[in-house]
Amino acid sequence: MEGFAGKVAVVTGAGSGIGQALAIELGRSGAHVAISDVDTEGLAVTEERLKAIGAQVKADRLNVTEREAFLLYADNVAEHFGKVNQIYNNAGIAFTGDVEITQFKDIERVMDVDFWGVVNGTKAFLPHLIASGDGHVVNVSSVFGLFSVPGQAAYNSAKFAVRGFTEALRQEMGLAGHPVKVSCVHPGGIKTAIARNAEAAEGIDAEELAKTFDKKLASTTPEKAAQVILDGVRKNKARILIGNDAKMFEIVIRALGASYQSVFPKAVARLTPKSK
Ligand SMILES: NC(=O)c1ccc[n+]([C@@H]2O[C@H](COP(=O)([O-])OP(=O)(O)OC[C@H]3O[C@@H](n4cnc5c(N)ncnc54)[C@H](O)[C@@H]3O)[C@@H](O)[C@H]2O)c1
Repeated sequence: MEGFAGKVAVVTGAGSGIGQALAIELGRSGAHVAISDVDTEGLAVTEERLKAIGAQVKADRLNVTEREAFLLYADNVAEHFGKVNQIYNNAGIAFTGDVEITQFKDIERVMDVDFWGVVNGTKAFLPHLIASGDGHVVNVSSVFGLFSVPGQAAYNSAKFAVRGFTEALRQEMGLAGHPVKVSCVHPGGIKTAIARNAEAAEGIDAEELAKTFDKKLASTTPEKAAQVILDGVRKNKARILIGNDAKMFEIVIRALGASYQSVFPKAVARLTPKSK
């Protein structure tokens, strides 16, 4: 994979899964990479792998919900490498629980990481991306940013919000004539630790959910996901769909319109394990 030689790319949540694979693929393509995560052990693994392929790497512990730290971090990265071309706002968490039994704090936590983390990263890096003369914002939503399913209201809210924010930003950059491209990524099921790291509302068997996700839903490897994302970035795609599942869902949703809401609950119920 070529095409990013000399570019400076920032990846959040780079200690695992899609973020780790993205960082490595970017390093292979010749980019200098600034990686961050709250999981410093996973981050160290990514850092070592990047060094092993000879990539220039800067690794930092960063919690994407901490706005002031994110703003400082953006300035540090720009100073370290002399410029910043791309930000991949990838860090994210999952949560399962019907609205009726989910606590406010759980919805807020998901919004904080999955939505506000993306807003923080975008706004912190936007001035640097504009200044670079060749910038790209890549925000990771989900297929759950295209349609909702029962039990995912918190995650759906955050991922729909990421999509709304990102699609508005793309149009704004075009209208303003800024040299910044913008892409929104919608992965289907990717074989990562996301479900194993996820929490759930009281009474829901999170372990069983994770097993179901790993066995039945996660079909694409993170390496493949990273390649699809970078290909979409090269082509300046507005919407990057990952996996046949994501592509199929997008077609079904477009065909069904709002009436998907009467078709999906039964399918989801079949995949969701009974409560403890
Ligand atoms: N795996 C999937 O099937 C799938 C599908 C659609 C969307 N996504 C999205 O892809 C992105 C990456 O997820 P993944 O599947 O690689 O999961 P993952 O759990 O393997 O990796 C997520 C990484 O984000 C980090 N992280 C979590 N909270 C953080 C915070 N507050 N600050 C900084 N880092 C934080 C974690 O430590 C972890 O290293 C997420 O935004 C997720 O919602 C994943």
